[in-house]
Amino acid sequence: MKDIDHTDISADDWDELNFPRSEDNEFDAVVERAISRRGFLGGVLAFGSGAAVMGTGLLGSSSAQAQSAAMGNRFAFTPIDIATDFDVHVPDGYEWKVLTRWGDPLFSDANGYDVSEGGPVEGSDRVFGENTDGMESFIYRGKQLIAVNHEYTNRKINMPAANEGTPADAGDVTRLQNLQGVTVMEVAEGEDGWSVVIDSPFNRRIHHNSEMAIAGPAAGHDLLKTDADPTGTLSLGTMNNCGSGKTPWGTYLTCEENFNGYFGSTNADASYDEMVQAGFERYGIGTDGWGYDYHKWDPRFDTSKNPNEPHRAGWVVEIDPTQPDSTPVKHTGLGRFKHENAEVVLAADGRVVVYMGDDERGEFLYKFVSNGTYTPGGSTEGLLDDGTLYAAVFNDDQTGIWKALTPETTGMASLAEVLSFARKAGSAVGATTMDRPEWIATNPHAVEGYCCLTNNRNRGVKPNAGGDDTSVNGPNPRETNHYGQIVRWRPHDDDHASDTFDWDLYVMAGNPTVYNNAYGGSDNITPGNMFNSPDGMAFDSTGLLWIQTDGDDGNEEDFAGMGNNQMLVGDPVTGEIARFLTGPKGSEVTGLTWSADRRTMFVGIQHPGGSWPDGNGLPRSAIITVKRSDNGLVG
Ligand code: FEO
Ligand code: CA
Ligand code: CA
Repeated sequence: MKDIDHTDISADDWDELNFPRSEDNEFDAVVERAISRRGFLGGVLAFGSGAAVMGTGLLGSSSAQAQSAAMGNRFAFTPIDIATDFDVHVPDGYEWKVLTRWGDPLFSDANGYDVSEGGPVEGSDRVFGENTDGMESFIYRGKQLIAVNHEYTNRKINMPAANEGTPADAGDVTRLQNLQGVTVMEVAEGEDGWSVVIDSPFNRRIHHNSEMAIAGPAAGHDLLKTDADPTGTLSLGTMNNCGSGKTPWGTYLTCEENFNGYFGSTNADASYDEMVQAGFERYGIGTDGWGYDYHKWDPRFDTSKNPNEPHRAGWVVEIDPTQPDSTPVKHTGLGRFKHENAEVVLAADGRVVVYMGDDERGEFLYKFVSNGTYTPGGSTEGLLDDGTLYAAVFNDDQTGIWKALTPETTGMASLAEVLSFARKAGSAVGATTMDRPEWIATNPHAVEGYCCLTNNRNRGVKPNAGGDDTSVNGPNPRETNHYGQIVRWRPHDDDHASDTFDWDLYVMAGNPTVYNNAYGGSDNITPGNMFNSPDGMAFDSTGLLWIQTDGDDGNEEDFAGMGNNQMLVGDPVTGEIARFLTGPKGSEVTGLTWSADRRTMFVGIQHPGGSWPDGNGLPRSAIITVKRSDNGLVG
């Protein structure tokens, strides 16, 4: 293990340090592609004062959107300046308030839970978990429910007494396992704003040891069998829950991202069969366990003892928030990779389409299309498992194609292998390497999708973990891309099930005060709205696109003038982007949903710095509510 603490750097950086990929430098290819790229840019895309990069040109707008755009700026606020302090800021006429922080009780028997020393093991599965991420809103029998992810733990913060954040015993591991996963909770609005309904029958914690079923084509395959579960159909826990999704039938999807970090080996010399070893290398599963050290205390996470356990993570998990006793289901039909979120939309004929990104440098964008169709009130059996998984190929002429991942197209032995090693399948069909696909959102007023490509310092520098070339390409046009961009695609025939699409870039983040080339950003980036590393993203019901960032908040050099991480709103028609919220220094703004009456936004503040929000020396991730002071609509 390198002498760097995972709690001090991003998960992706930790992964890169501990499981470095090939160092091959393809300098010649980079130059060649850069030259041809210039020609392409001259024809379609441009930067600075040239033609618009944004799809206002290539991808036309729906008439409803064009009409609203013609009426002027659609933003109901005055954009705010950057911030560099340890607080949250919103525009004049808006107010924010903390809803709940990690360690806050969900049940009255956890009322005494004290986070000051990291919190006891007992009760750690009865409180709100740490590092809030994706979340979705549900209404059931008049109750406002929220399901929300807890992506990872800051070990130095929630177990400070334990050897600088290193687990000292199995209890420490259990505490870490309990503080991650998912919370389902009922919230209600009273005189003093929103609060969690303590002891609501809907309140529930799902964590690294919760029972869940495995469904779909890979369920029961040898790759998923362990000594504890010889059937390969029952799993414990959901790991590194990052982005989210919501099905038309009212269930929550939680997406397992950097699951590899929880696995390690007590025997560094252990050998594995060829397919397992290749999978470990592609997915970054090593011996160290990222400092969580689960493998030293819990043999389930020790790959020398349970080499198939990592195959049971890296999936999308479905949870019914309205049924507290229901068993979550891992849907293998949606593929295994480092899932960001799962954006569900219906195709023209009612088939279920799920867009998904794999957040690692040079990995792919995926789409699942179900065989069956959804009908309200009808059976949903198989709608997230029986179908076809595709990976995206973006052509430089701004067209694209979804390549089916099957044994026939990939040369892999079975559909279970294709899905369990979806990255290898994507490589086999020549999917386009992307600049770390984060959240995907689909426009409720137009048949189009958007994906945040957050950044990629390896673009044009070295291949991805599978050895695929990562020279600059159409939607990823900048080498050592440290700003990120948002790619947009419009399926042909206005049908999300279509195999083909057109694409453009909605925005390229950049710094026009430092660069007057591509790194200055696209035309809709100005000194007044600069940001870097777009990550979280969601459309509101009016068709505005909310963008959250997880980038460099040093506010100097290439990032000067960008300030803390933030939330902006974009108009998909005009390309305008305005800053709405800034987070505390050190934090990432991630997770966004709305109350049923659309008068409240719930926004997640992950890994804040300083002492936010309490000012007592202990930073605590939290969900905040944001409302208009006049209680008007906010989305
Ligand atoms: Fe958990 Fe890719 O963000
Ligand atoms: Ca993210
Ligand atoms: Ca991120």
